[in-house]
Amino acid sequence: MSTTVNETSWWDTIKDTSFLVNPYPQLKAWREQGAIHHDRASDIYFVLGHREFTKIARSPKMGRDTRLWRDGWASPANQTKNPLAYQLYSEIQPQMINVNPPDHRRMRGVFEDAFKPAAVAAMATMIEAEATRLLDALGDGGEVEFIERYAAPLPLRVVCNLFEIPAEMDDSIRRWSDSLIRVLDIMTTHEQRQEALEALHEFKAYVSGLIVERRKHPGNCMLDTLVAAFDDGTLSEDEALMNLVSMQIAGHETTVTLIGNGMLCLLRNPEQLARMRADRSLVPSAVEECLRYEPGGNMIMRVAIEDFPMGDIVIPAGSMVLGFIGAVNRDPASFDDPERFDIARANNPQMTFGAGAHTCIGAGLARLEGTVAFNALLDRFDRIELAGESRWRLDRMNARSLEYLPVRLGRSV
Ligand code: HEM
Repeated sequence: MSTTVNETSWWDTIKDTSFLVNPYPQLKAWREQGAIHHDRASDIYFVLGHREFTKIARSPKMGRDTRLWRDGWASPANQTKNPLAYQLYSEIQPQMINVNPPDHRRMRGVFEDAFKPAAVAAMATMIEAEATRLLDALGDGGEVEFIERYAAPLPLRVVCNLFEIPAEMDDSIRRWSDSLIRVLDIMTTHEQRQEALEALHEFKAYVSGLIVERRKHPGNCMLDTLVAAFDDGTLSEDEALMNLVSMQIAGHETTVTLIGNGMLCLLRNPEQLARMRADRSLVPSAVEECLRYEPGGNMIMRVAIEDFPMGDIVIPAGSMVLGFIGAVNRDPASFDDPERFDIARANNPQMTFGAGAHTCIGAGLARLEGTVAFNALLDRFDRIELAGESRWRLDRMNARSLEYLPVRLGRSV
């Protein structure tokens, strides 16, 4: 196992605009120095190798509870040093992605049936209807901004439909998600944290009202599952609210990046787009390749519960470990010709959904949304081309997403 130690903090590099626009050359260079890197300045372990990340992500000795992070956000020292961050991270804490066993199993168990393959397959008609509605609004096409008109509204509506949240809430939920998606980002300023805390309070007040109303008028959707888990004591009030808030955010922003980043990959590789159009059975593997090649999340986190030996190093208990997914997904030890975008890639163990106990519960739904989104677009338009320069969002470090993707769409009939 190779470990690199250098004196310059990687944080400075990963905040740099050129890294945010295209992180891959730097990630490749770093991975070539070693599969794991200990950044002395921040005391964070970065993981760049696919085999190493898989092992770490799957290990029960590695959790996601940031309260165990030595000197981290939730440490007693931070309570006086940075009370705003302490309050924010304490309030977002009680949800499945932030807890270790046994709480993790208890919370995840509430939603597991709703995300089983048959339940997800049954969502296809609803997703297709949403895609059709958005495509109808595009008329005969022409030049459109793809993110605003298609990639962003589709997943938002889908995840809201799961909880029967009405369309008039779309703008508020987008605004709240937009503020909250940054909270785990080191680029977050004091003002953004303040804004995130306000967004969190508004969001929680809204979902709290939703639960009260639902109790009066029960139905048969994921909101009822959540209410039942609250009422039978499986989830506390805070856990019910935070899991619902976080499901909205996790299920929305990430899938926007799958459809948006994926579309960009296909537009930059028109021969692959043509191949997908000619053979629709390739759409699911194209979605998988989009997830590998342009993952919407740059990093996946773990906090060591116990000392974790890895090759010739030991990651001490309480350490923050961050997998650089852009490096992991292009590791030549696990992927043939990793820099090539290939929609028919045979062996693609991409790590964009993470792995182990916390692996994304909504992965099946996200894959289905990607497949429906691309198929519906191909059905509607014969011509799909890049219409200018796309722009990455540069105000966030963890979520890798496009703010602008101009596309030219046309139909022959
Ligand atoms: C392309 C879309 C998506 C991506 C890239 C993505 C990515 C991830 C990642 C990286 C994790 C953490 C995995 C780990 O730590 O090993 C995660 C967890 C999670 N995701 Fe997703 N996600 C996506 C879509 C969704 C959707 C559609 C939903 C639900 C509607 C969802 C809900 C969740 C939840 C609740 C967790 C926490 C699971 C746990 O801690 O047990 N995600 N996701």
